[in-house]
Amino acid sequence: MTILNEHNFEAKLQDRVNRKLNSLISSSNQINESIIYALSNPGKRVRPTLIYLVGDALNIAMESLDALAVATEVVHTYSLVHDDLPCMDDDDLRRGKPTLHKKYSESTAVLAGDAMQSMAIQVILEDKIIPDDVKVQLIKFFVETIGHEGMIQGQALDIQFEDQEVSKDQIIHMNHLKTGLLLEFCILAPAQMADKRNKHWENIANSVGVSFQLIDDLLDLEESEENLGKATNKDLGKNKKSAPLVIGTTETLIEIKKYEAITMESIMKLGLNNHPISNYLKDLFSRRK
Ligand code: IPE
Ligand code: IPE
Ligand code: MG
Ligand code: MG
Ligand code: MG
Repeated sequence: MTILNEHNFEAKLQDRVNRKLNSLISSSNQINESIIYALSNPGKRVRPTLIYLVGDALNIAMESLDALAVATEVVHTYSLVHDDLPCMDDDDLRRGKPTLHKKYSESTAVLAGDAMQSMAIQVILEDKIIPDDVKVQLIKFFVETIGHEGMIQGQALDIQFEDQEVSKDQIIHMNHLKTGLLLEFCILAPAQMADKRNKHWENIANSVGVSFQLIDDLLDLEESEENLGKATNKDLGKNKKSAPLVIGTTETLIEIKKYEAITMESIMKLGLNNHPISNYLKDLFSRRK
């Protein structure tokens, strides 16, 4: 595919998903305006990028991936809008801008998040390219990922653990649910579409998913607010059971390295060493924002 052959493919993929996100909403009212605000603030677009990269590795046309790319970014953004609410992590800064409830109001943030959740499913449902039977499978996978036994359960554990002693396994499980599953979807859904889901893709998906949160938790301790576009050193104050706070930074880094090794070995077994996904994943493991 042409975009991936260009050296700045990441920026091109971000542009593609940004254009699609911008064209989601036409009418304007306060909820729509606030959704546009949340979606147009500069996120890294990791989830759509993964979808396009895995899709490319499996020869899926980009047009067949656009709905999933948009839907995952919309759900991810909604999860941040709710994550930032005063009753959750109570944050004022997101993607370098005031959080949605600060810019608008708490009720607007709750409702915008609710609307974005159904909007994401609507985007997949209304897609004109994915065949209906494939769509049903993908939507089932998607709602399991983001629902009451998936991402939401992870967020519930994150809050519950604030008042509790927890083990390393419990932390990894929480990370898997609250952050890992959506990233897993981004890797496994294209694999499923191509009928190429196997244990190598599953290993990559699990490892990238869990370690993404481990790295986020390290960055909270080590990076600046300016660099991350969100408040830092906030997990300790909120008694969050993040891996570095419970098992220590060194042990957390060892875990991340372990997941990186599993990922890169699986990439090799899939014969994708020279595909752009290989470097993208490597960079994801050493990201500083
Ligand atoms: C931050 O996600 C929250 C987690 C799930 C760890 P990202 O680091 O992908 O945030 P954006 O999308 O770039 O803002
Ligand atoms: C967010 O994790 C996970 C989800 C939104 C599902 P964090 O609470 O660590 O994310 P940040 O640090 O606020 O971005
Ligand atoms: Mg949180
Ligand atoms: Mg948070
Ligand atoms: Mg965090």
